[in-house]
Amino acid sequence: MSYKFNVTRVQESSISKVDFNNLPFGKTFSDHMFVADYINGAWTNLEIRPVAPIPTHPGNMAWHYGQAIFEGMKATRDAEGHALLFRPELHAVRLNNSAKRMSMPEVPEDLFLQAIHTLVDMEKAWIPPQTGSALYIRPFMYATDETIGVKASDTYKFIIFVMPVGPYYTNPVKLLAQDKYVRAVVGGVGEAKTAGNYAASLLPSTMARKEGFDQVMWLDGVHKKYIQEVGTMNIFFVVKDEIITPNLDGAILDGITRKSMLELFKDQGYKVTERPITIDEIIEAGQSGDLVEIFGTGTAAVIAPVSHLKYKDTTIELDMAKRQISKWAYDTINGIRNRTVTDKFGWIVEAKP
Ligand code: COI
Repeated sequence: MSYKFNVTRVQESSISKVDFNNLPFGKTFSDHMFVADYINGAWTNLEIRPVAPIPTHPGNMAWHYGQAIFEGMKATRDAEGHALLFRPELHAVRLNNSAKRMSMPEVPEDLFLQAIHTLVDMEKAWIPPQTGSALYIRPFMYATDETIGVKASDTYKFIIFVMPVGPYYTNPVKLLAQDKYVRAVVGGVGEAKTAGNYAASLLPSTMARKEGFDQVMWLDGVHKKYIQEVGTMNIFFVVKDEIITPNLDGAILDGITRKSMLELFKDQGYKVTERPITIDEIIEAGQSGDLVEIFGTGTAAVIAPVSHLKYKDTTIELDMAKRQISKWAYDTINGIRNRTVTDKFGWIVEAKP
């Protein structure tokens, strides 16, 4: 079905104020956003309007009980200037999986896709042309009932706004495996892209940063032994000639870059395994020299090589000169995104209103 959006344009674009060669992640916003309200069991008030603050009542349920979910996607451009989206339908599915878990309404997939296509087409001048940069797309939904009392809200807002971004990580990442705090347990909300998962990660992340690390590597909440993910990305290891990554168990984010890289690695003939991985076996592989690479995958992070991993008193330092698979992965996924590498699986779609 085709939806009708009410469109209000900015009087003057702010794009001329943006330095596209210097784009810290997440700080520069484009002119327009998509907004929809969920009222009486239906999505209504569908509009694209100038990006601006949204007044919110202090009793807004999202502030108190945390019904807030989001997605992260990217638009890139090819040499001809077409605005390109990467597997947008998977983001629609994942948003709705998060919505189900958080007792929130689903956004019909065709509405999600039409809103993304229309907004990205409108904002395509904001897509940075530099390799590694992109227009980051942030669809999100939050509760809007003004009620104090724990229950699912009856009303919600669904918003999409976009921002030109440079790389999320500009240097190889240093990871600290966390053995005190946990991010998620099986049966919890670890697989949902919900705001509280990120809030829970902040104290351990701040502690890790004070010790000189960029990110926390999470271990499972029961045994504190199985590697889960790195709050901003999924994690892969190259041990001898095998690429391994933790299997999805409900506590790990079902990353779309993760899924895509698994498909690309298999297609390229690499030996790839998804399975429970213990921190001890990775430390042992690091000490014996069998651990060749560690890298993260994520929409924001793309493919982020890891230079250090610390667990308890042991620090493994990876030789960045031996990095081959993560380099191939980075070049391939970025190449598919800007159409310099053949998109053999048909993942790229042009943004069309
Ligand atoms: C993404 O990769 O898109 C995320 O949502 C992660 C966030 C840390 C930026």
